[in-house]
Amino acid sequence: MNNILITGSGGQLGQCLRAIHKNYPKLKFTFLSKNELDITNEEQLCKLFLKYKFKFCVNTAAYTNVDLAESQKKKAYLVNETGAKLISKHCKKHDVFLIHISTDYVFDGTKGSAYYPDDAPNPINIYGMSKLAGERAIFDVCGDFTIIRTSWLYSEYGQNFQTKILNRIKENKKIKVVNNIFGTPTYAPILAEYILNKITSKKEWEKIEHFSQKKTMSWYDLANKITRKIKIEPVNDKEFKQKANRPKNTSLA
Ligand SMILES: NC(=O)c1ccc[n+]([C@@H]2O[C@H](COP(=O)([O-])OP(=O)(O)OC[C@H]3O[C@@H](n4cnc5c(N)ncnc54)[C@H](OP(=O)(O)O)[C@@H]3O)[C@@H](O)[C@H]2O)c1
Repeated sequence: MNNILITGSGGQLGQCLRAIHKNYPKLKFTFLSKNELDITNEEQLCKLFLKYKFKFCVNTAAYTNVDLAESQKKKAYLVNETGAKLISKHCKKHDVFLIHISTDYVFDGTKGSAYYPDDAPNPINIYGMSKLAGERAIFDVCGDFTIIRTSWLYSEYGQNFQTKILNRIKENKKIKVVNNIFGTPTYAPILAEYILNKITSKKEWEKIEHFSQKKTMSWYDLANKITRKIKIEPVNDKEFKQKANRPKNTSLA
């Protein structure tokens, strides 16, 4: 049975993979969160790869705080470059196929149309630069791998755009969302399903793949899409007590 290592399993994509893993009874999973496996710790990696015979590693572990990365450059590079390099080195040594997740932020966003995997990257922030450095480190190690670049992941899991918007609604806070930055948002469970389906189907992987949903939209459009999904429960007025009585039907003609 193929044993699959999922790193960073406490994160958004890690949780999405965990949520669906039972639908793949032919695969065995080892989910490890940051507390259980630090991908920058070589000693931990050595022990782990010796102990288990993994067939695949899905590296979802990353430093993902785009704004904080501007002031924590070293930390971002440590996880996103060094961590990716170490994981890739151990995968190569133990014949494990690496599925590494990268980002649309390796591009500068000036092309004016959708980016293809062979378009030239040119990141404009530290997070994007550190992720690109990770991609390059994986190419340098030269094992068996695919790099899946995805964009604007959102879901019910972890901290992401969807959970942030819904929390603001719950807290009754004003919501302002940018409407002049565009991308292809990706519902993270769909990416999780893509990865596990492709492992199961034994199809070939490209060295770099782009995976996102098709529709280009702004953050504002995405916020509207997410809030449209909020379920509103119908209740009888007896359940919705207010101080003053309300007339039952005041339709005017
Ligand atoms: N979220 C997006 O919109 C988006 C868009 C494009 C690409 N991506 C890429 O998709 C992948 C998954 O993203 P995500 O949304 O699931 O991110 P996430 O929710 O931040 O998950 C990443 C996980 O990695 C963990 N981690 C950080 N440093 C680690 C280390 N040294 N060793 C092991 N684990 C470590 C984090 O733990 P802590 O939180 O405790 O630090 C977190 O649990 C990442 O590669 C990301 O760059 C994400």
